[in-house]
Amino acid sequence: MILGSGIQEGLLLKPVTYPWAYDLYNQAVANTWFPNEIQLDEDLADFARMTPDEHHALTHLMSYFNPNELLVNKALAFGVYPYVNAAECHLYLAKQMWEEANHCMAFEYVLETFPIDRDEAYRSHVHVHSMARKEAFEVAFIRRMTEQTLDITTVAGKQDFVRNLVAYNIILEGIWFYSGFMVALSFRQRNLLRNFGSLIDWVVRDESLHLKFGMNLILTVLEENPEIATDEFAVEIHDMIVTGVEMEAQYNHDMLPRGILGMNADYVNDYVKYLADRRLEELGFEPEYHASNPAKWMATANDTLQLVNFFEATNTSYEVNAHATGNR
Ligand SMILES: [Fe+2]
Ligand SMILES: [Fe+2]
Repeated sequence: MILGSGIQEGLLLKPVTYPWAYDLYNQAVANTWFPNEIQLDEDLADFARMTPDEHHALTHLMSYFNPNELLVNKALAFGVYPYVNAAECHLYLAKQMWEEANHCMAFEYVLETFPIDRDEAYRSHVHVHSMARKEAFEVAFIRRMTEQTLDITTVAGKQDFVRNLVAYNIILEGIWFYSGFMVALSFRQRNLLRNFGSLIDWVVRDESLHLKFGMNLILTVLEENPEIATDEFAVEIHDMIVTGVEMEAQYNHDMLPRGILGMNADYVNDYVKYLADRRLEELGFEPEYHASNPAKWMATANDTLQLVNFFEATNTSYEVNAHATGNR
């Protein structure tokens, strides 16, 4: 069983119980990069040519990304690492936590290089309501994972574990971050900020593995604990994702109040809905929005995963899985 709370369990790596986690660890190590490999100052001339609305959008992105990279680490440290027993998962989580630290440092490098007011950027995640609201949504799920009343051996405790995973991995990393990456990379589509674009490419490459790890972890927890995937719980998870889309719409409006060349809040929100549909399908739900992808050029950035089927027809697929995997 992948869930547990014994600190002395899961101390030996071989034999590996969850090969997907071990594979992701090796892929993550192969992807290792450092922000100073990018010559960000070569983008300064582009930055000087950009409009105030474009500067605002970029600052808004940095204001959100910087603290939230570190918030993901809190979700992992308080909500995932203590409750997972497999050594290969701990290897991966340790690498992911370094990557989130590295992303934070990459965005610090952006703040240092471009003439962005750091104090103003730092204040926004508290003072801009749409940004603070997204953060508060995440914090509530992380906080639950730290409470003494949480018992990971119970159905309720396992559901809390999955809720936190859906909040930080599916919604924050899998929808909110990707919509931000799309806006960040859109500058390069117009031949602006090419080096910044390369930095974002590397962050996206890491994030696509984070998403795979989180999805596999949810799948494994549900496979090993089919009793937690009740109809009510499925509705709740679905509603969390829909709420995440609503919060992102307000945030994107604040990022692009008047729109910039080739992009406005509606365009970004169509991409958010497209992403949310993919995440819903990856979790075995029907799509909610049936939105087509306005940013097809993002497909190369790995924004979707192969489909897995849980929550969908839980009764049958879990029985099939249980038989297929034998003596669990
Ligand atoms: Fe990150
Ligand atoms: Fe991440």
